Amino acid sequence: MTQPSTDAIPALKVRAGKTDAVIRSVERGDFSLAVETWKTAFGFTDEERWKKFAFEVSDYAVGAFIDDYPHALATVIMFDCNFNGHLIKCGGIAGVACSPPMRRKGLVRAVLQEVLNRLNDQKVEISALWPFSYPFYEKMGYSLTDLQYEVSQNVDAIPPVGDSSRFKPVKLDDYEKLMPVHQRWTKTFNLSLERNSYRWQRQLTRPERQFVLYLHEDGYMIWNLQDPENRTLEVVEWAYLTEQAFHDGLALIKNCGQLAFDSAKWVMPVLDPLLRLGVSYPPARVNVRYGMMSRVVNSEAFFKNCSLDAHKVEICDPMGISGSANIDGGIRPGPGEVLQIAAGFMKPSGHVAESLYKKAANVATFSIEQY
Ligand SMILES: CC(C)(COP(=O)(O)OP(=O)(O)OC[C@H]1O[C@@H](n2cnc3c(N)ncnc32)[C@H](O)[C@@H]1OP(=O)(O)O)[C@@H](O)C(=O)NCCC(=O)NCCS
Repeated sequence: MTQPSTDAIPALKVRAGKTDAVIRSVERGDFSLAVETWKTAFGFTDEERWKKFAFEVSDYAVGAFIDDYPHALATVIMFDCNFNGHLIKCGGIAGVACSPPMRRKGLVRAVLQEVLNRLNDQKVEISALWPFSYPFYEKMGYSLTDLQYEVSQNVDAIPPVGDSSRFKPVKLDDYEKLMPVHQRWTKTFNLSLERNSYRWQRQLTRPERQFVLYLHEDGYMIWNLQDPENRTLEVVEWAYLTEQAFHDGLALIKNCGQLAFDSAKWVMPVLDPLLRLGVSYPPARVNVRYGMMSRVVNSEAFFKNCSLDAHKVEICDPMGISGSANIDGGIRPGPGEVLQIAAGFMKPSGHVAESLYKKAANVATFSIEQY
């Protein structure tokens, strides 16, 4: 862990049922107990992977301790995030868990309160996460900020466009060749997270998946070949910076269908490049998936660093971080709604934030990063 330790940040006490819980950083000595809480919450028991997650992947972890047992946990992974043409800091939240005996006592809420306080003190503009439940995190001020289109299509029905030979196979160890394209790609969306070399390695070394990589001048594809469901090729990640790169990718998928797969599925941030090709027979199936949730943390830093100072609004924050919880909740936007409104993801209804609407909406919101 590279971020605050208990030496730097004093522990806090909160009431949990009939006992006091101490909210503090998770240290290496806490790991064997922390992993029990994570294992029971996620059902994922590979201790080595949890250790890496807690002490290498995450910048720091915070826990709610009762008698030195970490009953509730959350970790923070710091990302650079694109918004309105600027690179801002995003506290990615992961590993949120509470041990079964101590659930529904406010422990995770207290841990997230502490995490948001720390991010706010560090002038971090926003926070984001992939929720297990959207209503749960709405109570903490997060809002849905992107929709993703999962497309499934019979390989035979893919229109014959593009040139597959513009893609070159890349060895897994040479993943760094994909990084410049990924970086260009993230610049074309709001709330897209940058991925460093360490995260690339982590993404590509999942025990339950077997990846192959293809690189194009203006794109790349990551396929998973492990245990395909119903002879469907899983395109895990498909970056295309031009319509041509999208067409060339379709040609690549179509070629793959000859023996191994009948259909393919992939995720698109917007459907237009597919729709422009007309509707095939049988038509592609499109499933709209809810994406990442985000919220503003340090509102001053957010408005200033995203060049939105002229449209600054007071925020009504249930966690009391980026604004008071008690100011005109009906007409003041929440910390997640501010991002929805500025990015044009959602139109405010009767909010005082009308002037903020679409002020950062030059590109769609989308993030592929899983954490
Ligand atoms: C979900 C989980 C983290 C909640 O932890 P917790 O300590 O029980 O949560 P809290 O007591 O702090 O609850 C905070 C609020 O969410 C509500 N809540 C708690 N569990 C909830 C659930 N499963 N679904 C919806 N709301 C829930 C609480 O009622 C409370 O609302 P309130 O503030 O209006 O009173 C815990 O049940 C868990 O570890 N589950 C398994 C792992 C998991 O799903 N992690 C999340 C990964 S994103």
